[in-house]
Amino acid sequence: MLAKSDCVIRYWIGITTMTAGVMSLAILSGCQESVAVHEQLARGEAIYRQHCASCHGTNLEGQPNWRQRNADGRLPAPPHDATGHTWHHSDEQLFRITKLGIEAFVGGTYQSDMRGFGDVLTDADIRVVLAYIKSTWPDEIRRRHDARNESKKQ
Ligand code: HEC
Repeated sequence: MLAKSDCVIRYWIGITTMTAGVMSLAILSGCQESVAVHEQLARGEAIYRQHCASCHGTNLEGQPNWRQRNADGRLPAPPHDATGHTWHHSDEQLFRITKLGIEAFVGGTYQSDMRGFGDVLTDADIRVVLAYIKSTWPDEIRRRHDARNESKKQ
């Protein structure tokens, strides 16, 4: 059995490692910041290709006739590019949709093929794949999306 002092030591090792991590990140930020952002977006793109592209399209174009419900009454996958309405939702809404799925997001008896990815993707994975999607939008759309985020915070 672990003595209490072992736990305290482990706790401090944990804190020290985290601090070292944060410090090296701080040193890396600055000249390396754009490299880190680039790597995050590349990871987001890889996650997108593996988990999202089969429905939302390799080029984020969505499924054909995505505004019309299928025979089963469900909506096809909309595009994630500027022609869709992904950017109409705040970051927090997009996070919840991706993590929980549309049915849980909308509630009631709503049925959708957009399942939640909380069981296969970590929160960090979800944020990074959404950051990748957002990175593909033209400046003007990104600016309008940022404005929506701000208005949701008030
Ligand atoms: C099995 C097909 C499928 C996969 C795979 C899939 N989606 Fe979806 N997604 C959909 C469908 C269908 C909708 C529209 C559902 C509705 O409105 O009823 C949707 C909607 C969304 C929306 C809401 C968009 C809007 O404009 O309202 C987001 C955000 C989203 N998906 C993100 C993702 C992400 C991120 C991934 C990968 C991690 C992913 N989806 C993978 C089918 C899928």
